[in-house]
Amino acid sequence: MTKQYQNSIKVLFVCLGNICRSPLAEYIFRDMVTKQGRGADFYIASAATSTEEIGNPVYPPARRKLQEHGISCDGKRAVQLKKSDYGKYDYLLGMEERNIINMKRILGGDPDGKVFRLLDFSDRPRNISDPWYTGDFDTAYEDIREGCEAFLDFLNERKER
Ligand code: 4NP
Repeated sequence: MTKQYQNSIKVLFVCLGNICRSPLAEYIFRDMVTKQGRGADFYIASAATSTEEIGNPVYPPARRKLQEHGISCDGKRAVQLKKSDYGKYDYLLGMEERNIINMKRILGGDPDGKVFRLLDFSDRPRNISDPWYTGDFDTAYEDIREGCEAFLDFLNERKER
């Protein structure tokens, strides 16, 4: 990571394959903070717990959902979560409980309390179902948007305290 990001809030979104939910979260959250003029305050990325899709682009239905909202995810390729990411990021946010278990296995635990489930920041804590299996990209998009907004509210409240 370059020096430019040293003082930024570093956020890594994580799911099973890194071709549907975590790229949606990465690009939705980046769009959100950019529109608030806070893009430079953040370093944002996404990764997979599995090796299944490494190197692959965002799954077309997820890419289309982003396009519908005027967001491009061109150039994104799936990468796997690494143990060293724990030191690199301030927040590592999984989409569902199964992600959290796999994240902690790869990271070697969570001694600093940086690992959260995205919708645990919302008023209705829950898993984000995998649209790869459900085919429901509308619900995934809305759940992720809700989670990103709730996470941003959490960060704003922390700053005010
Ligand atoms: P994601 O969905 O975790 O939301 O990216 C998946 C995409 C692909 C696979 C699993 C989940 N897969 O096993 O190939």
